[in-house]
Amino acid sequence: MKAIVLNKTGGPELLVTTDVKQPKAERGEVGIEIEYIGINYAEILSRKGLYGWAGKRPYILGMEASGVINELGEEVSKFHIGQKVIVGTKNGTYAEKIVVPQECVSPILENYTMEENAAFLVNYMTAWVSLVKMAKISPGDKILITAAAGGVGTAAVQIATRYGCSVYGMAGSEEKIDLIKSLGASDGYNYRDKDCFRSLLEDTGGIDVVLEMVGGQVYKSSLDIVNPFGRVVVAGFASLDLKKWNPVSWIKTWRDIPRVKVGDLAKESIAVMSSHLGYLLEEEPAQMEDILNDLKKFIEKHQIKPIIGKVFSFNDAPEAHKYIESRKSFGKVLLKI
Ligand SMILES: NC(=O)c1ccc[n+]([C@@H]2O[C@H](COP(=O)([O-])OP(=O)(O)OC[C@H]3O[C@@H](n4cnc5c(N)ncnc54)[C@H](OP(=O)(O)O)[C@@H]3O)[C@@H](O)[C@H]2O)c1
Repeated sequence: MKAIVLNKTGGPELLVTTDVKQPKAERGEVGIEIEYIGINYAEILSRKGLYGWAGKRPYILGMEASGVINELGEEVSKFHIGQKVIVGTKNGTYAEKIVVPQECVSPILENYTMEENAAFLVNYMTAWVSLVKMAKISPGDKILITAAAGGVGTAAVQIATRYGCSVYGMAGSEEKIDLIKSLGASDGYNYRDKDCFRSLLEDTGGIDVVLEMVGGQVYKSSLDIVNPFGRVVVAGFASLDLKKWNPVSWIKTWRDIPRVKVGDLAKESIAVMSSHLGYLLEEEPAQMEDILNDLKKFIEKHQIKPIIGKVFSFNDAPEAHKYIESRKSFGKVLLKI
């Protein structure tokens, strides 16, 4: 079968398809013919060698996909051959086929296309865990979402607006701000404008919950606009760009990585938290299944559909990564097998 194997770290040109041996489902495992692969920012970091939760090389990249079950190992009773499913895993989805433990497989959302199903799991679970489980958002809360036009960002805007919150999004272009507003955000701000946090504070009087995914000055400024009892959930730091052979980038990364001074939090009575879906999936699979079921009910009740920015062919994986790194992408970017 064809797959994209990461043998070493580096640029998008490494993402070439090669022939690898087709895996076979063992006891408790499910084999899936993949249709669409959801690309996550974490895979760009993995490709660069900057992702802590990455697999041990060589491995097949990719954390999520939609497809059809074509093989069942012994002792798998929850699924059947021919069933359409989504898969969420540590790696292995940049391939024509994957074999995973049955805990990594979930039925599709019936009213979604297979493209939408591949765009669902990581983005919506990250947004839901961060906003609902951790920040415990309530109707009427004022929420700031950074990188709001991206995969997790658009999911977060949809969830928080349907929750009855007033949502403010930050992004890097006017087109992205238009998209955020079209999803129900009350307003959008461009963080390439150095006064954007001051404008946000003047317009809102302060924010109750921040979902922060950029890092650097954006993280630091977000701490200054949080109301007493407010929560900042750090789910990523997309702006960090550590380069192995460039000492200037080591200093910049050290400076820009989000940090917490408890004394400063005490002065404002605010909390800083951080979420990571991967560790949760590894350590709390049963709890994550319950959370996924709650999320699916919410998504179906509010008729939320993922925003799909662009679909690339499998062979164009390097172009897909370049597109996300260019900061021109919005919503979810997919590969089609
Ligand atoms: N905690 C978790 O479990 C979890 C799960 C999934 C994703 N994440 C994190 O959440 C963030 C968003 O992930 P995603 O997959 O949805 O990606 P994405 O938002 O679709 O793409 C990344 C976005 O980050 C923004 N960005 C800001 N500064 C950047 C820079 N210097 N270089 C590149 N991009 C920059 C860009 O939007 P603008 O141009 O609008 O700034 C870009 O579009 C990432 O940090 C990712 O690692 C965390």
